[in-house]
Amino acid sequence: MAVGDAGSGARTAKMIVTIDGPAGSGKSTAARKLAARLHIPYLDTGAMYRVVTLAALEDGLDLGDESALYALAVGAPFELDCRPTHVRVTLRGQDVTEEIRSMRVNDSTPYIAASPGVRQVLVDKQRDIARRLGRLVTEGRDQGSVAFPEADMKFFLTASLEKRAERRYHELLAEGNEDVTLAGVLDNLRRRDLTDAARSVAPLVEPAGAVRIDTTHLSIQQVVEQMIGHLRCAGLISAAEAADASSPAHA
Ligand code: C5P
Repeated sequence: MAVGDAGSGARTAKMIVTIDGPAGSGKSTAARKLAARLHIPYLDTGAMYRVVTLAALEDGLDLGDESALYALAVGAPFELDCRPTHVRVTLRGQDVTEEIRSMRVNDSTPYIAASPGVRQVLVDKQRDIARRLGRLVTEGRDQGSVAFPEADMKFFLTASLEKRAERRYHELLAEGNEDVTLAGVLDNLRRRDLTDAARSVAPLVEPAGAVRIDTTHLSIQQVVEQMIGHLRCAGLISAAEAADASSPAHA
């Protein structure tokens, strides 16, 4: 698997910031905005599980066949291009950035994410990416608990199920998914929450030492401001970086 490099904004000092939380908690948008604001790449680890799922579906694999899934993940037929404002995903040379967000992939990803072999392969890749990039905002379900327990800063985002469903519903509509319903999205989220929390390998947990942010009544800007405040308090970013809020290039 290839990984795009950090781009011209990268500095030499290392800093790993993890953002975990359930679907619809706002972590993906928060991670993207925070990374853009700090001019460092972000890693969408959900995209890694999604692209392996898409590959498995395309190959017609049995989603319960652990050794076939492991072989697929090790073969890594996908690439991630991690930038401060976007992650582009390709599968066997084809851009699948949008396709991995389809309901078909949504519904099957938790099964792939429950595979211990796939998780081990992807966590190793995440650590490898962090080693190469140095400064990184990474988001998922297990980033602060399993992949980077020694991260410089860990955030855990939550929100009510209703609010999360509402956000996801609007995102899906904006992506052109016309036949989604709010009730359907709510049901999908509830099932994903249960599968993610109940699986035996790396269940969704609040990582030890994480800063918890309930985003139910917060705008994305308010969430990012809170994160910036915590990073500044911990001495991980300078006053200048913390104040870089209104730069038009990174709004
Ligand atoms: O974050 P996103 O909704 O794209 O993640 C898709 C699915 O991938 C999640 O529902 C979860 O099953 C799985 N996942 C995971 N661990 C991660 C990231 C995602 O298990 N670090």
